[in-house]
Amino acid sequence: MKVGILSGGGDAPGINAVIRAIMRKGIQNYGYEILGIRDGWAGLLEARYMPLDLDAASGLLPRGGSILGTSRTNPFKTETGPAKMMKNARKAAIETVIAIGGDDTLSVADRMGKYGLKCVGVPKTIDNDLAGTDYTFGFNTAVSIATEALDRLHTTAETHHRVIILEVMGRYTGWIALEAGIAGGADVVLIPEKPFDIGEVCLLIKRRQNRGRNFSIIVVAEGAKPKGGVEIVYSESLDEFGHIKLGGIGYYLGKEIEKCLNVETRVVVLGHLQRGGSPTAYDRLLATRFGIAAVDAVHEGKFGHMVAIKGNKIVSVPLKEVVGKRKTVDLELYDIASVFFG
Ligand code: F6P
Repeated sequence: MKVGILSGGGDAPGINAVIRAIMRKGIQNYGYEILGIRDGWAGLLEARYMPLDLDAASGLLPRGGSILGTSRTNPFKTETGPAKMMKNARKAAIETVIAIGGDDTLSVADRMGKYGLKCVGVPKTIDNDLAGTDYTFGFNTAVSIATEALDRLHTTAETHHRVIILEVMGRYTGWIALEAGIAGGADVVLIPEKPFDIGEVCLLIKRRQNRGRNFSIIVVAEGAKPKGGVEIVYSESLDEFGHIKLGGIGYYLGKEIEKCLNVETRVVVLGHLQRGGSPTAYDRLLATRFGIAAVDAVHEGKFGHMVAIKGNKIVSVPLKEVVGKRKTVDLELYDIASVFFG
């Protein structure tokens, strides 16, 4: 059996660990031939591959990024895309595809089922907003990086008596902001799920000042927006899945806070530092468990499914129940974070 693997969408620490696990179990235990498909669905559209043998698995566990590359290519953008991919899959004798990705990549895997492509999904996104799984790999690393940034920002904010705003990723959900905000002791956490009132944010900072705390740390997810307002957009251009590029909410907040409180503010945009580099031990373990489960699913003929973690058990869920949905933050966690606001 020849199994193709691809990674699509934004990268996340742990993709290579998934690839390694698929290769090791697939080749050693099942005698599969593994073929890397380059740059997400673009690689199957354009017949760009990379052979993967056991030697290629060496050194992958701690390595960030994806050895296969990635893209946000949507093969359904053109009418001929899906048929072209089927033709290429047949030509390369790819019998099944393990797609490592978030909602966009997995929605293509789901739709390709109708064309006869047998797919298994692996949930990946640092945003942790994919439905059907408690966690996606990459998220834990992003939270750890954001938490370390918060620890560092605390000392300089305190020394200079400033308000420092940390803008983190999270297009539609505030998982990174919320978990890092709790772990890093943020004084205010702003997330897309809870539109904010700038007056209330200023009051929280004022409350801290009244308690003798002359510095504050705010974490804001890039997709957070003021009540009745809209997200701050970095560029109007859309990607092939129709997503806009967000960015700038941190600077908006900084200016607003300086206006209402006359306090010096600084803004740090963490950006792609959250996605680059080595995965944490948790993400290496989760990615490895996902990779093994994905190749087992191929062996069992469980196509049209995504591997997932529920509680601490690895399970599989139909792609149909996952795509097009979104897992928003746990509001109980938000309540915990808010105990420490102001
Ligand atoms: O991976 C998801 C995500 O991290 C979003 O939070 C963010 O908006 C987006 O990727 C940015 O990705 P890129 O810079 O690759 O377009």
